[in-house]
Amino acid sequence: MPKSPFYITTPIYYVNGKPHIGHAYTTVLADVLTRYYKLLGIESHFLTGTDEHGSKVQEAAVKNHMTPQEQCDTTVGNFIELWKKLDIYYDDFIRTTEERHKTIVRKILQDLYDRELIYKAEYKGWYCVPCERFFTEKDLLEGNLCPECKRPTNELVESNYFFKMSSYQEWLIDYINTHPSFILPSYRANETLGFLRQPLGDLCVSRPKSRLSWGIELPFDKDYVCYVWFDALVNYISAVGYMADEKKFNKWWPASYHLIGKDILTTHTVYWPTMLKSMNIEMPKTIFAHGWWLTGDQKMGKSLGNTVNPMDMAEKYGVDAFKYFLMAEMVLGQDATFTEDAFISKYNTDLANDLGNFLNRVIKFILKQPSPIIPEPGINDDNDIEFKNEVMNAVNAMETALLEMKLNKGIDAVIASVRAGNRYMEKTAPWKLAKEGNLERLNSVLYNTAEALRIISGLLYPVIPEKASVIRKALGIGDEKLIIDDLRIWGKLKPGISVTDTGVLFPRIEIEKNEEKTKEKALSAPIQVSENVVDMISIDDFFKAKLKTAKILKAEKVTKTDKLLKLAIEIGKEERQIVAGIALFYTPEQVIGKTIVIVSNLKPAKICGIESHGMLLAAKIDDKLKLVTVDGEIPSGASVG
Ligand code: ME8
Ligand code: MG
Repeated sequence: MPKSPFYITTPIYYVNGKPHIGHAYTTVLADVLTRYYKLLGIESHFLTGTDEHGSKVQEAAVKNHMTPQEQCDTTVGNFIELWKKLDIYYDDFIRTTEERHKTIVRKILQDLYDRELIYKAEYKGWYCVPCERFFTEKDLLEGNLCPECKRPTNELVESNYFFKMSSYQEWLIDYINTHPSFILPSYRANETLGFLRQPLGDLCVSRPKSRLSWGIELPFDKDYVCYVWFDALVNYISAVGYMADEKKFNKWWPASYHLIGKDILTTHTVYWPTMLKSMNIEMPKTIFAHGWWLTGDQKMGKSLGNTVNPMDMAEKYGVDAFKYFLMAEMVLGQDATFTEDAFISKYNTDLANDLGNFLNRVIKFILKQPSPIIPEPGINDDNDIEFKNEVMNAVNAMETALLEMKLNKGIDAVIASVRAGNRYMEKTAPWKLAKEGNLERLNSVLYNTAEALRIISGLLYPVIPEKASVIRKALGIGDEKLIIDDLRIWGKLKPGISVTDTGVLFPRIEIEKNEEKTKEKALSAPIQVSENVVDMISIDDFFKAKLKTAKILKAEKVTKTDKLLKLAIEIGKEERQIVAGIALFYTPEQVIGKTIVIVSNLKPAKICGIESHGMLLAAKIDDKLKLVTVDGEIPSGASVG
């Protein structure tokens, strides 16, 4: 294992919406890897943060009736709160609106401009707002669609500043070819090399303020702000003291891993390396692109509105169990589908059955002995040696898995050793040994199982720190100085220490039969997203609208218009007035007494000067309109959804 310091980063996330499982995944992965490197005795630094400039954030601010800074300050809280909930132990959190970052971006821009690596020119291109990227006409798919996300782009002609990215093309191809661990998995390096087969253009690094004002102003032209990606990528060096704290920078740079999702491969493996090269900075050791969490066969994402809220999952099933699933289920590099059923099944198998059973059997058995302590082992027989070897194999497998970035394989090996523990219990049958009074064998078996638990809990500690800690405490050991060397040696557990109970760490999840289940199913089942994905909303968005049944008590035409009816409606015990554009289709007499469906939590508004509190639902096509009513008798005030 390399002993040089370990510096790991996550992407900095856009603050245009709430974090979902995709964001949680990268951050949990970085956290788990950092904890493993600490276990290996390697000094480590874990950086995460938020990407706060650019049109995405500006647009979200407009939509939410906030200033961009307010949008950032509000949304950043969602990320910080989630990381706290998930027990994420980062060393630094950078926000690109912080002065420590902006200063460095300006310095870099000025330096590149002075060295003529940034120049001004007129530009015509097609811009994709969701990707925050420019494309040339030949990049576009079918007319004007973005080649990355397949959404429509907008044509733009303007004067801008350009970074001479094209001059590094040959160098970059050569660098990737001669540094096999620069981009991992290797198929992602091939993807980048494929991209570099066409001529590489220069990178537009500015946006005129007339079009986008939310960004870092160019130090050499106050009419422009910096392109958000050029600004964002710099976070990886500004946060560790580039141009500000040389000692710190030299300590951590080059980064060991930039963890990213495969959606942002080009920006990280083309833009970023050429930027670093132009600044004469060493390359990061590895840019690692993992796959996507999917719902159905679609990427889970904010703009697709098919996300699962990690906060809810952690709340419902526990933080450690949730993190365990993320780490164990996804083959690093490949896509994985998220469903609550898959979660429950993995949880029940690995945690409730395998680990939970083993733990329970060992601890309960020791507690039943006349003296509930770690016993002194006798001589090991073949069964003991076989079991011990299986546990030691897990230690090696985890170390190899870390080196190869195959975390899920390491976890599988640990769970395999847990299963070996359950088999060992069956084979050696300590309950029989106790009955027979074979104390020497009994003590050996109990010692070995407890020792296995010490090692297994140590190996799982980075993934499930809270639960692993409980196991270790029950065995009378802490986790402050947990290091791999102690896990490599069999026999470190001290005989004579009192054992305490852990309680049930992972209670089995029974598949619920109540109505909640149907609602959850809706949340977790693959969601079929059709063509017009941009317009999709999440189930959470849908539930924001409180639909209720309402009974129409009175109705009259609004004078001076021919379209509106003023209705007095009853929603349970409440009476309200709404104005509805249905007068061309219904007379007042026709609607009185009907039970309709309304959006009850709409803010009151004035329509033609008349107060309207709520909106009724109606189906409309061409010149036909029909009120949405309910099938059969139901009181007013019933919720619809
Ligand atoms: O791209 N599956 O931010 P972002 C797995 N600000 N991971 C996912 C995912 C999914 N379905 N969805 C998102 C940006 N992610 C830029 C980054 S870095 C200098 C600037 C994770 O908020 C994954 O790590 O769109 C992905 O790369 C990242 O979130 C994108 O987050
Ligand atoms: Mg994104």
